[in-house]
Amino acid sequence: MSIIKDAKQLAQGLVQGAVAKAVALAPDSWVPGGEPDPLIRMRHGHVGKPVSRIDGPQKVAGKATFAAEFPMEGLAYAAIAHSTIAKGRLVAVATEAAEAAPGVVLVMTHHNAPRLKPPPVFMSSQKAAAGDDLPVLQDDRIHWNGQPVAVVLAETQEQADHAKSLLRFSYEAEPSVTDFAEAEARGTAQSEFQGEALHDAVGDAEEALAGARFKIDADYSSPRHNHNPIELHAVTLAWQGDVLRIHDAQQVLAHAAWTLAQVFDMPEDKVVVTSPFVGGGFGSKTLWQHQILAAAAAKLAGRPVRLVLSREGVYRVVGGRSQTEQRVALGADAEGRLEAIIHTGVTVKTAHNAMPEPFILPTRSAYAAKTLLLDVQEVELDMLSNTFMRAPGEAVGTFALESAMDELAHEIGLDPIELRIRNEPEKDPISGLPFSSRNIVEAWRAGAERFGWSRRNPVPGAVRDGEWLVGMGCATATYPYYRMPGGAARLTLTQDGNVSVDLAVHEMGMGTSTVHTQVLADRLGVPMENVAFNYGDSRLPGVIMAGGSQQTAAIGASLIAVCDKLVGELLALAGNDSPIAGLAADAVVARDGGLAKRDDPQRHETFASILQRAQRQSVVVEATPASPLETMHWSMHSHGAMFCEARVNAVTGEIRIARFLGSFDCGRILNPKTAASQFRGGIIMGLGLALMEETQFDERNGRVMNPNLSDYHVPVHLDVPVIEVMWTDIPDPHTPMGARGIGEIGITGTGAAVANAVFNASGRRVRDLPITLDKLL
Ligand code: MOS
Repeated sequence: MSIIKDAKQLAQGLVQGAVAKAVALAPDSWVPGGEPDPLIRMRHGHVGKPVSRIDGPQKVAGKATFAAEFPMEGLAYAAIAHSTIAKGRLVAVATEAAEAAPGVVLVMTHHNAPRLKPPPVFMSSQKAAAGDDLPVLQDDRIHWNGQPVAVVLAETQEQADHAKSLLRFSYEAEPSVTDFAEAEARGTAQSEFQGEALHDAVGDAEEALAGARFKIDADYSSPRHNHNPIELHAVTLAWQGDVLRIHDAQQVLAHAAWTLAQVFDMPEDKVVVTSPFVGGGFGSKTLWQHQILAAAAAKLAGRPVRLVLSREGVYRVVGGRSQTEQRVALGADAEGRLEAIIHTGVTVKTAHNAMPEPFILPTRSAYAAKTLLLDVQEVELDMLSNTFMRAPGEAVGTFALESAMDELAHEIGLDPIELRIRNEPEKDPISGLPFSSRNIVEAWRAGAERFGWSRRNPVPGAVRDGEWLVGMGCATATYPYYRMPGGAARLTLTQDGNVSVDLAVHEMGMGTSTVHTQVLADRLGVPMENVAFNYGDSRLPGVIMAGGSQQTAAIGASLIAVCDKLVGELLALAGNDSPIAGLAADAVVARDGGLAKRDDPQRHETFASILQRAQRQSVVVEATPASPLETMHWSMHSHGAMFCEARVNAVTGEIRIARFLGSFDCGRILNPKTAASQFRGGIIMGLGLALMEETQFDERNGRVMNPNLSDYHVPVHLDVPVIEVMWTDIPDPHTPMGARGIGEIGITGTGAAVANAVFNASGRRVRDLPITLDKLL
């Protein structure tokens, strides 16, 4: 059995390897993005303008309905009880008191829960969306401390919460592994990410390090992090006939619908998930046990259910970022050119998911070095599955790499920006592919100028303002360009010149609906008011996630495909009496609200005129874009130059961030207003990673000890200084609209920029996140 599976995997691997090689060597014109998107050249349209959010008025008026706010007739409210052991058996549950409590509708445990199939875990297939593949309330087994063990439904939330407090559980604990060091001592295993080993080697890096003129060899660590979107994970749902109707807070709509259909063993189209607004996701708004539990309870009770996780519930049920221990060793010659980069270490995952923290990802394409050794090992603990959390890999990987680069610059006595520029690679150091577009040097120069980097005193601890030691630090930010398979869009054009487009995509506050309304208006040459962008519903086309900072690229490519199809369709309808009669599809473009000859815009007919003559009220087209082969042909990454000014109190060790600047190279910026907000949000989350975020995990029993926002600290307004953002705005010639994703890059590099500023201010090098004041005394 396993040999057959291995052979099959090997064969698949060989095919994939061969495809990757062929795509790498193919002429540019054969690859998606080989011909630049014509929209890149359009300079006077809506794209690039700071258009305010089209959903803004709805939001400020309180008229944007979130998952926990949808009204349903006869709603019951749910509360979840969580296990208090890490591993073992649930021996008994005393439910009588809870069942007798006022307003209680149902107490559901593994004894009476409907029979369900285990949910397919993320990345096990294209539409799998679950955080783990454990059965949900199907048996007496406990897999983590905090696992849901019962659900109470009642007429009000307060009654459900009260009744839950009356439940009594008896457990039989079994030995569990919840201590990182203990697990590490037993041995580690090669970590994989998206089916590939997290391991790269070029030359003999250890040998090159040993012989290098300058070297740094240091250990860095980062703690567990929990997701804390301000909107709690929530679901309002009902069984309506044979349809499961769910209002969810989702960033993977089509995936969630398919995965729920597997769990409840029903046709995919009978699960309808909608999610018009999401109050922040960051990788957490996927499918966890709470949606499954709510649907199961609703089925059992025969009533619609609302389940809103408490803040503690989010910590117990929704995974976060797992901890890392990283070694970064850098060897450089007398001029500061890197001869060796070693970035290795250990992270944590569970037996039932596939998401180790891939912290070497940023190092793969960061610098030219003669030799590289990158490796992630993992240990398994009995704990809640960890998951994607804003820039998984890059967020904490850049902390280690970019701290080490600062240490090396200090060792050599070279300006840290100069060290980075000196090691700028000409092609991808691992894959050897050319970069699609890489203008990091421009970002560094412009950022340094704006920030006043030349005023920095390179001597640590040399600048003092009363009690405060003042310093500046910098670091590189980086995040890959992704475009995942699964794009699709449907477009309806009506005789009155209105266009509506349907895709199962997401608005988590990034400005998606606004930006793509701008894009479509430009692509068809119609006013923004004539464009309706419909999204947030699993019944719409596409399997597109708002993740990996790829939604904009996936939507962009889908809109290109559907507009191309529209042109073909209209050309067929235009007939012989049209000014564009007789033209081939590739000689025609959509512009000015109609079709025109590509090189002769005078030959033009409006959409309305074409439809009228053809006696058509509307045209509907649906299309899918070409497979995203471009990322096998070019090395595609965004970059940023991050600058921080920190003040460290010489008496108390208190750290204040005085100023921050992010100078980005992310391709063309589609909307400066929403983009600036994305960049700043990422940087603020990076300040939290640098200075305060830490899940306190009791290694004796696997329990999260600070599952609330008073003990788990995130930045508040007083922690956040003025954050300036700027960008090169140089289009990537090989992406839709010339844009690359911007959602995650802000959190990358920020931790190191802070650590490097703290070092410059105080002379203290903190390699263990978060940088709290006790580490500076
Ligand atoms: Mo992001 S961690 O891909 O939502």
